[in-house]
Amino acid sequence: MAVTPFDVADPELAGSGSERIDWAARAMPVLAQIGERFSAARPLAGLSVAACMHVTAETANLMRVLRAGGASVALAASNPLSTQDEVAAALVADGVAVFARRGVDRAAYYAHIVAALDVTPPHLVLDDGCDLVTTLHTARTDLIAGVRGGTEGTTTGVIRLRQMARDGRLRVPMVAVNDTGTRRMFDNRYGTGQSTLDAIMRATNLLLAGRTLVVAGFGPCGQGVAERARGMGAHVLVTEIDPARALEATMDGFSVVPMAEAAARGDVFVTATGNRDVLRAGHFAAMRDGVILANAGHFDVEVDVRALASGATARRTVREQVEEFTQPDGRRLLLLAQGRVVNLAAAEGHPAAVMDMSFAGQALTLAWLAAGADLAPGVHPVPADIDAEVAALKLASLGVRLDVSSPEQLTYLRSWEQGS
Ligand code: ADE
Repeated sequence: MAVTPFDVADPELAGSGSERIDWAARAMPVLAQIGERFSAARPLAGLSVAACMHVTAETANLMRVLRAGGASVALAASNPLSTQDEVAAALVADGVAVFARRGVDRAAYYAHIVAALDVTPPHLVLDDGCDLVTTLHTARTDLIAGVRGGTEGTTTGVIRLRQMARDGRLRVPMVAVNDTGTRRMFDNRYGTGQSTLDAIMRATNLLLAGRTLVVAGFGPCGQGVAERARGMGAHVLVTEIDPARALEATMDGFSVVPMAEAAARGDVFVTATGNRDVLRAGHFAAMRDGVILANAGHFDVEVDVRALASGATARRTVREQVEEFTQPDGRRLLLLAQGRVVNLAAAEGHPAAVMDMSFAGQALTLAWLAAGADLAPGVHPVPADIDAEVAALKLASLGVRLDVSSPEQLTYLRSWEQGS
């Protein structure tokens, strides 16, 4: 029998990884139901899946469901700092080809993605940030013809896919699971909102009440962070470039100010924009002693760490996940998790109850692709019935019941003759 290849930190950690995966499973009832269906119907039988995702206990539950559906699975990390090494080990023990070690450098990070693609030519791909798809289209173009399609789970990844499509470079159909109602609202807003604050507090033990927290970007992730921080007693300032979002933040009761002004007022800064250099040299110069800088966006480009380092007279780690950059005038700026996505690097990412919905949608979308959804290369929406089914299953698992429209109400909604 062929040996499954892997590269993880320590296979001996499998036992504790398995416990962690089982703990997450308790909060993932929708995914569990899909898993039961998959075990019976085997919708992925004979297919190989290559995934590039955060290697967490929640992702592990998705991998188990895909295997229950009959797929062989190879998994690389979608961030060098988010891998839970014990989970990676447990997945290897389950038979998943995992290439992920927490803390690898950039070269090893991309080598792992190539390794996951090379295990078995993939029929389906799962991506989280678009690094697997870009690697497929640059380093492993020979595999493209065999790929039926895939899913992308992040805002950043969908933006990159759309750019690839616009440039005529995207050669496989990709389904934007990030854009579903269940994902944008629950993952981005509630998941990022809670887990970002969780990470900041775990890393620093900061009391948020009474502090000024600056959120850059008022998309669903920034909204989640702003709302949760306000709920914990912080004064929240929002920075935006988009007028509609700035207006929404204003009407939600937040103060919207340019970053040039916020820089001098904030105690904690959280970037959630998807763009680069949101916090940069001019801002660092205006910040107060002891401020905390954290990034909640997918890539480590939002805080200009290079400028932060080059403008500092000293750089040292003062606590796990906290680096101090001393400025020439003695002020100390504290960067969390090297500017990488803080909720995964300094905490556990979105709670399992949130990932339950995202991953249920992802599993159903893969089954739909496997069943022969005939899509052209490009970026496609998740079928509306999949999104609605996931929401309905989640509500059922929470014991929440809905009202049902009466026949008269349905007729009213379908008619144009009746007004008042
Ligand atoms: N993205 C955000 N949170 C996550 C989690 N807990 N697992 C996998 N991917 C994630």
